[in-house]
Amino acid sequence: MRFFSLILIGLGSVHQAFAQLLLDKRDVLARRYDLAFRVVGAADSRGAVVQDDGLDLAALLAHKAAGQSVTTFPGGNPLPDARTLAQTAAYDLLLEASPVNLTDGEPALSCVRAALRRGKAAVLANKAPLALDFTGLHALAEAHGAGLAFSATVCGGLPVINVGRRDLVAADIHRVEGIFNSTSNYILTRMAAGESYEEALAEAQRRGLAETDPSLDVDGWDTANKLVIIANAILGLSIRLENVRVRGIRGVTKAQIDRARTEGQMVRLIATAEKSESGWRLDVRPQSVPMNSFLGGVDLWEMGVVFHTDIFEDIYLKIDERGPMATAAAMLRDAVHLGCVPTFWQDLREVASNASF
Ligand SMILES: NC(=O)c1ccc[n+]([C@@H]2O[C@H](COP(=O)([O-])OP(=O)(O)OC[C@H]3O[C@@H](n4cnc5c(N)ncnc54)[C@H](OP(=O)(O)O)[C@@H]3O)[C@@H](O)[C@H]2O)c1
Repeated sequence: MRFFSLILIGLGSVHQAFAQLLLDKRDVLARRYDLAFRVVGAADSRGAVVQDDGLDLAALLAHKAAGQSVTTFPGGNPLPDARTLAQTAAYDLLLEASPVNLTDGEPALSCVRAALRRGKAAVLANKAPLALDFTGLHALAEAHGAGLAFSATVCGGLPVINVGRRDLVAADIHRVEGIFNSTSNYILTRMAAGESYEEALAEAQRRGLAETDPSLDVDGWDTANKLVIIANAILGLSIRLENVRVRGIRGVTKAQIDRARTEGQMVRLIATAEKSESGWRLDVRPQSVPMNSFLGGVDLWEMGVVFHTDIFEDIYLKIDERGPMATAAAMLRDAVHLGCVPTFWQDLREVASNASF
């Protein structure tokens, strides 16, 4: 059996679901993959806790459910913050699921950098570190021989990154388009069914679909972050957030949606990366698409992507993801891949860096 020590940065919806998965899937992980994961540290907004022989996950979940901070978890040693945990604890793998911060990426960016500099692997659900410094983080990972995986950052459980990096071998991808944000898709679908923008947003928040800051969803930045990650990780581009033209759904009116419907169309927030003779165009904007098309049929909280390629023709992927479990499962998938095949992602990085699309 191979044992891996983990630390969790953030202990909200995603990492609580992840901790529950570790409890529920302990036997499966041991039997199928010969792996045992032990959580030795966790951080939330008030500080961090470390316990070298492993935190009692069921008790930690109950502690958080009671509204407590990890810093008061009985038996653990409190630390001032997530960065200190990432810099000082003894662990193999850091998992990052703190809120998106597009201003400076903190505290996630410092935590991931600290892990990679120490040769520890990192698994991300938080898109901000990659949207702000994709190249720098990959250079650090390479310099220190550390694994870096982030399949949860693009459409949660949908394996967009893995299919794009691993499965489209030798393909020329000339267009990627998709619906990557379930909150805005939910709002647009409900508006098409007669609700106002405000009613639909309130319902998305009540269902826990919206990001902590809903402007990331409705103004298109969450979608743009995912497009940046796809462009860098799959298309071999060196793109930052400022290279993407972004328009969200705030300006979409009920009249526009109704007009589209009378023409057999749905308004969707669509991210596109398209190659032309003059280079790649990347944008995020509301567009009308036929109701009976693939993207027109991506409803409510669903997300979807289309890869337009030469040799694989067109590949369509879609997920119906209603809570944080599928994202937590994607983080587990990355952790297992890193644990089973430590050089897997390094090999993929080499493939990507040699690619010429
Ligand atoms: N929810 C999803 O389905 C989903 C899907 C894909 C990706 N993601 C990404 O995953 C990340 C987490 O999402 P979530 O839904 O779990 O968010 P969440 O429920 O709001 O949880 C955020 C967690 O981060 C903690 N936190 C806040 N500031 C911190 C700081 N300075 N240092 C350390 N921890 C801090 C919070 O602490 P407290 O517990 O003290 O509040 C909380 O535990 C986000 O980046 C999100 O974009 C989420």
